[in-house]
Amino acid sequence: MARVATSPKLADAYTDALPASRALFERAQRLFPDAVTHDNRRMQPFPLYVDRAEGALKWDVDGHRYIDYWMGHGALLFGHNPPAVRDAVREQASKGTHYGACHAGEVEWGEWVCRLVPSAQRVRFTASGTEATHMAVRLARAFTGKRHVVKFAGHFHGWHEGLEIGVRPPYEAEPEAGQLPEVVDLVSVLPPNDIVAVRERLARGDVAAVILEPTGGHFGSVPTPAAFVHALRDETRRTGALLIFDEVVTGFRVAPGGAQELLGVTPDLTTLAKILAGGLPGGAVAGREDVLAYLATKPNAKKIAHHGTFNANPLTAAAGVAMLAAVADGQAIRVANAQAAKLRHGLNEILARENVGWKIYGEHSDWKIFFGAGAPPRDGADQSVADVDWRRLDAKDAERSRALRQALILNGVDFNGARALVSTCHTDAILEETFAAFETAIRAMREEGLA
Ligand SMILES: Cc1ncc(COP(=O)(O)O)c(C=O)c1O
Repeated sequence: MARVATSPKLADAYTDALPASRALFERAQRLFPDAVTHDNRRMQPFPLYVDRAEGALKWDVDGHRYIDYWMGHGALLFGHNPPAVRDAVREQASKGTHYGACHAGEVEWGEWVCRLVPSAQRVRFTASGTEATHMAVRLARAFTGKRHVVKFAGHFHGWHEGLEIGVRPPYEAEPEAGQLPEVVDLVSVLPPNDIVAVRERLARGDVAAVILEPTGGHFGSVPTPAAFVHALRDETRRTGALLIFDEVVTGFRVAPGGAQELLGVTPDLTTLAKILAGGLPGGAVAGREDVLAYLATKPNAKKIAHHGTFNANPLTAAAGVAMLAAVADGQAIRVANAQAAKLRHGLNEILARENVGWKIYGEHSDWKIFFGAGAPPRDGADQSVADVDWRRLDAKDAERSRALRQALILNGVDFNGARALVSTCHTDAILEETFAAFETAIRAMREEGLA
């Protein structure tokens, strides 16, 4: 795509460049609320419609090529269409996509989960991460006989009504449209990384589980110090609440065994999805045998009924097995982490050179952008957050985020406007292209008074 060095009107340039996407958007407006099928895919003036993808790249319906930093909402660690996964899916598709029966693939997939994830004594597959966190909370209530759940402001655990609470500003435990107040009342939303607040809440003795994204809300947008996670383990153990790690994003990404391996903290339950399922739909709850026993049939005892047409479907199981086998030795994770660190460094250099006060940060195979003035978290492993207001870190700057996305798309790069996921396919050459696009995009934003 032609470079747009100084567009005075990014939105107009975007509209002019993407007529086929615009035409699809017009059709979609007559079909879908907001014209999209996932809230995060909304985009002004209209979203990009993608036609195909390979490695770190994707192509839109107008024929433009992009470096992709969405990476399937975090489901892809080896880029798009990695040969091992593609071949496994192709072979399985030729044998059937759904047997409505037990099959060898689900056993192999389950063995991989239990081999890699430290807390996984038993596992049950679901069709998504949302289903997994829903089930984890049910299990915790069944096991403890208690009703309440503690979660942290800005931590996302899927869209079901039991946990879609306190995720966005103003982070209140207020019902959304159609959400029952009595369900919301069972969830305490605490400030992130505040062990005193946790201690006080657990002291009431009515908490079934504490759930968190173990590296911090929105994959570490507000980083969680390791010491907090260790303290959380101690407090939950002491008070009899279960500790649930939502590793839907961190699982198989920050270490083969997820954040629990990295931090050396074993939760009671773990929720998984994304990389777990090799880029196809799927999720899982893993954890203590005595807790998952509530999914098993026992004489004269209550259990959790669990159905689900697509649980461990053969296609997803084949993709999952290929993915987990490729992740197991940790090499891919190291490569993606190293490329992400180079990206963060290079993008920060551009910001400094251009005299723009934003900051790129992150710790694993990702980069995030902090548009605000003031102290951002440090980049890399030592992400001290003591001196940073977590609300400002989690806040979006909607106008800048939109403009940066438009400007980057016009220069052949796509990310979600706040966070970017990096894969093994983001080679040094891809990084160099990203840096050039970012520099041009920043200058285009300056033309609009936004940088
Ligand atoms: C931490 C976390 N938990 C749960 C979910 C929900 O997973 P799914 O989209 O598969 O329902 C997500 C999705 O982004 C997530 O990031």
